[in-house]
Amino acid sequence: MQKITNDFDGVTLFYLCNPNNPTGTITPKNTLSHWVDNAPKNHYFLLDEAYDEYVANPNFESGLAFIKQGNLNVLVAKTFSKIYTLAGLRIGYAVGSKELIELTERCMSLSNTNLSGAVASLASLQDTEFLEYSRLSNLRSRQIVGTT
Ligand SMILES: Cc1ncc(COP(=O)(O)O)c(C=O)c1O
Repeated sequence: MQKITNDFDGVTLFYLCNPNNPTGTITPKNTLSHWVDNAPKNHYFLLDEAYDEYVANPNFESGLAFIKQGNLNVLVAKTFSKIYTLAGLRIGYAVGSKELIELTERCMSLSNTNLSGAVASLASLQDTEFLEYSRLSNLRSRQIVGTT
């Protein structure tokens, strides 16, 4: 039987959906901090936070905290498809260090963002009333199906 070794030392991308889809489970901030703080410099973390606005668990913390602290290896991906309900407009964004964003942009097509999505997403960031409505209706739905 082939032995599984742990001696790969090349560039590594760790993709984590937090909170996870479809389970809704979270990776607690302490666990995530431990991984990020102890990772080699050539290990990168892509944190998919498509659903973070729905989390009420105090053990959850957005990966934005790492970026605010100056961490260069963390990229947080966000979408307007979920709580903002703009899925059809294909709009989202990533947050990370200047260096990481520049590297990421090299792999993106020029037509990445459409005008309708750009305008609607900027407007939806101002619409805190709708955001709260969207969050509460999701919460009520989860209560009805018994997942909270
Ligand atoms: C965990 C997760 N990340 C990202 C996405 C992508 O969303 P979109 O491509 O609509 O921006 C989805 C959509 O289902 C998702 O469930």
